[in-house]
Amino acid sequence: MTAPPENLFERVEKRILAQNHDLIDFRRYLHAHPELSQREFQTTQTIRERLEGLGLSVHARAEGTGLYADLVPPDFDPELHPTIAIRSDIDALPILELNEVPYASRHKGVMHACGHDVHMATVFGTGMGLAAVRESLPGRIRLIYQHAEESIPGGAMDMVAFGAVDGADAVLALHCDPELPVGQIGVKPGAFTAAFDLFEFKIIGKGGHGARPHQCIDPIFVATQLATALYQAFGRNFDSRIPMVLTIGTIQGGTVSNVIPEEVHMSGSIRTISAEGRDGVEPLLRRIAGGVCMTHGASYELRLERGAPGIVNDPAITTIYAEVGAAMLGDENVFRIPLPSMGGEDFSYYLERTPGAMFRLGTADGGPRHPLHSPHFDIDERAITIGARILARSAIRLLFEHAIRMKTDRLVETV
Ligand code: NI
Repeated sequence: MTAPPENLFERVEKRILAQNHDLIDFRRYLHAHPELSQREFQTTQTIRERLEGLGLSVHARAEGTGLYADLVPPDFDPELHPTIAIRSDIDALPILELNEVPYASRHKGVMHACGHDVHMATVFGTGMGLAAVRESLPGRIRLIYQHAEESIPGGAMDMVAFGAVDGADAVLALHCDPELPVGQIGVKPGAFTAAFDLFEFKIIGKGGHGARPHQCIDPIFVATQLATALYQAFGRNFDSRIPMVLTIGTIQGGTVSNVIPEEVHMSGSIRTISAEGRDGVEPLLRRIAGGVCMTHGASYELRLERGAPGIVNDPAITTIYAEVGAAMLGDENVFRIPLPSMGGEDFSYYLERTPGAMFRLGTADGGPRHPLHSPHFDIDERAITIGARILARSAIRLLFEHAIRMKTDRLVETV
C-alpha cells in the first residue's frame, strides 16, 4: 500500500461531476423542506434512503434525528484498516425565507439559512464518488449526518455518544462561506472558532413608586451600571492578545413608566478562544456583579450555560485540505484565514475524541452578498461538487496515510 493512485482521484471526481445536476436537485429539495433542530425527522429519513441507495450501512438514532452510515470496502477489518469520518449538519433555522426562487422554503418560517442543505448534498456527493471506488479503498468511510447543530446543547454530543466517531482515525467537515467567492476555499490550522457560553443575570432590587426612588432599590439603574461595568472590565482582565467577546443581547424589566420594578433580567453570550479566558469568565462575572449590586444595595442570581468548545483544527489535516485545494483550484484560490471566527460550531465535540479539521467552502456568486443566517442567504451551486471533490480527495489521502501507518505499526509489533 503506497500513496493513492492518481486514477483513483480521477474516477471519484468523474463520478461526482457526472452527478452535478442530481446533487443540485438534491440540495434544492432539502432547501425547500427545512426542519428545525431536534425535529429533522423527514430530513433524516430522506438522507437514510439516499445512503441506503448507495449501499451504505446506516446507523440511525432511535430518536429519529441524526444518523451515520458506513461505506465498507470488501475484506474490511477495523483492527487492520483505518476509518475516516465526514460530518454534515442537517438542521435549519427559524427564519422566514425572503428569496424568491423555485426551491424556496415550503415550511413557512423555517429556512436553511446556514447552508446545512448544501453540506448535506455535498457530503452525499462525496459518498457517491467514494462508493464508486469502494473496492479500491484501503479503509472505511463514515458519513455523519448530525441533527441540531444550531441548538444548545448541540447534536454533536448526541452523535459522539451514539458512537459516530468510535473507531474513526480522523473526522472532516466543511462550512459554507458566503464571504468567499465560489472556486475558493478557506483553511486555518489551530483555533478556528470560539467556545460559546451563555449567561443570564437576575438583578433583584426593591420595587416602588417612580416618584420615590429613595424608598426603592432600582434594578434598572443597577442593570445599566452592570452592563457598563462588564464591558469595561472585559478589556482590563484578560490577555488582550487573545480575542474574546461579551455581548449583552437582552435586558428586560419593568412594565410601566412610573413604577420601579422588583427585578431585571439580562442575558448575553461570551465567546472565547483560550481555555484560561473561558474559565476566567464566571469568576469575573460574579466579582463585577457582586460589586455593582453591593454598591447599590441590590442582589443578583447568575445562570451560566456552557455551549460548544472552540474548534481546533488539526494542522496535518488542514495541510491536506490546502494541498488538495491548491491542486484542484490553484494555490491562489486557497485562502489562508488569518484569524479565528468568534462564531460557535459544535463540530468541536468530535475533535475532543478524534483529530480532524473543518475548512470553509466559498459559495458567493457575483451578486450581492448575504451573510449566514440572513433571510436572503443563497449560494452559487457550483460550490457543491467542489466541496464534494475536496472532501473525497482528502479522505482518500487520509485513508492511505493511516493504512500505511497501521501497517508499519503492526510490522514493528511483530518484530
Ligand atoms: Ni452552520
